[in-house]
Amino acid sequence: MATVAPERVSRPQVRQTTCFIDGKWIPSASGKTFETIHPATEEVICEVAEGDKADVDLAVDAAREAFENGPWATMDARDRGQLMHKLADLIEAEIDELAALETLDNGKPITDSRNADLPLVVDCLRYYAGWADKIQGDTIPIRGDYLCYTRREPVGVVGQIIPWNFPALMAAWKWGPALAAGCTIVMKPAEQTPLTCLRMARLAQKAGIPDGVINVVPGYGPTAGAAIVEHPDVDKIAFTGELATAKIIQRAAAESMKRLTFELGGKSPNVIFADADLEHAVAGAHFALYFNQGQCCCAGSRLFVEDKVHDEVVDRIADWNAKHAVGDPFDPNTKQGPQVDQAQFEKVLQYVDYGRQDGASCVTGGKRVGDQGYFVEPTLFTGVTDEMRIAQDEIFGPVLSVLKFSDVDELVKRANNTNFGLAAAVWTRDVAKAHRFAAKVRAGTVWVNCYDVFDAAAPFGGFKESGIGRELGEAGLAAYTENKTVTLSLG
Ligand code: NAI
Ligand code: MG
Repeated sequence: MATVAPERVSRPQVRQTTCFIDGKWIPSASGKTFETIHPATEEVICEVAEGDKADVDLAVDAAREAFENGPWATMDARDRGQLMHKLADLIEAEIDELAALETLDNGKPITDSRNADLPLVVDCLRYYAGWADKIQGDTIPIRGDYLCYTRREPVGVVGQIIPWNFPALMAAWKWGPALAAGCTIVMKPAEQTPLTCLRMARLAQKAGIPDGVINVVPGYGPTAGAAIVEHPDVDKIAFTGELATAKIIQRAAAESMKRLTFELGGKSPNVIFADADLEHAVAGAHFALYFNQGQCCCAGSRLFVEDKVHDEVVDRIADWNAKHAVGDPFDPNTKQGPQVDQAQFEKVLQYVDYGRQDGASCVTGGKRVGDQGYFVEPTLFTGVTDEMRIAQDEIFGPVLSVLKFSDVDELVKRANNTNFGLAAAVWTRDVAKAHRFAAKVRAGTVWVNCYDVFDAAAPFGGFKESGIGRELGEAGLAAYTENKTVTLSLG
């Protein structure tokens, strides 16, 4: 993907701020709204409709109707794919505007939203558009005089609950496979970042995706989110967010045996062996943690460094941190913006305290930047041991923990010493060592001599408490289909 140097973008216009239900833009039934803020300045951007159960009920009815009786259900699969391509084209045509809206609502640097988030949105929708007419079953040679075949049918009405760290991209990861499979959608964007999702819904409408196929209900988790999860007419929930929330959802969804896919947190081990190309490894390890203000589910937050190169790696990361430009996310030179909100900002600083209390050394950072906005210095801890809270818990901020190792056999055990299992990485010139680690580490994604390489075609998801199921690729699509076996007597 070519990198674009974004112009200093003036503040984008906010256009959609209401619920989007059955093709209509409507206030919440209660009339309530909530504020969404720009985390760099703490200024209120606008008020957004605060949906809850009444709005979710309407949205689920619309999605059910569109699924059972709308043109979506009877449309040729290839035409469904064409509508998705149209949506991708419309997003691409507004990519600067959408990137700026993402930066306004989330605080991420404009260079990242313009070069990473939004291009990946377009790519994901195009990838899944290509799948729409390629979802096919098998013919199965069963015993006897029968014709047996399978059909892969859409799972139905899907509830999609997404977080704030990649707002537009998480919407695309969830809409792509759902639309390709022929499902209909009730989405709840995160309360911190509803704006790009609503804009994308407007573009879906413009693209000609029929009314009721995509419904968006902005609002809070325990109200709007819970109403989606508890609704008996929702067939599947796709959720990305915190483990504790996923457990609440899993319990509630048991009532109606909903299909579930979860993409949760991580405490991903990133291993630098002494034989690695250190310049490359350090740049990669820095990116692995500090990208997106550390707010990545797959952040390489436990950096294991072989003792022989430990000090050199720490010095180099400290140098990177000294040069890491923290500030106005609309400045194209900014590398790190604010944390998304006050709660996240406080959580990160709390973990800095835990790190100090538990005896780790804070080599860089550890403090707030400025006195306005939720900025945290790029923070680096050394002397971190496996039991410390900063080595166990997901911090979701710019706080890197360095753990020293010398024994390779111990390393795998230590890397796996976490309830999470989302991602892992290894930096080495020894191919055998890399593959041995890749086979043994309990993680859904392993990167070798790279980090955060995402592609819409490559499945992503977690082992252990990092999730259930996979997103992206064919595996991500399969989670939106039911397999039906049809057996016909030829006798
Ligand atoms: P969260 O899990 O509470 O929020 C994610 C989404 O779930 C939001 O749309 C929220 O409104 C919704 N939600 C919350 N409670 C719900 C409920 N009872 N029923 C249905 N939906 C509900 O995560 P939060 O509070 O924003 O962040 C807390 C921590 O979670 C972060 O510090 C980070 O450690 C982790 N996290 C992980 C993410 C990932 O990508 N895996 C993304 C966001 C947060
Ligand atoms: Mg929460």
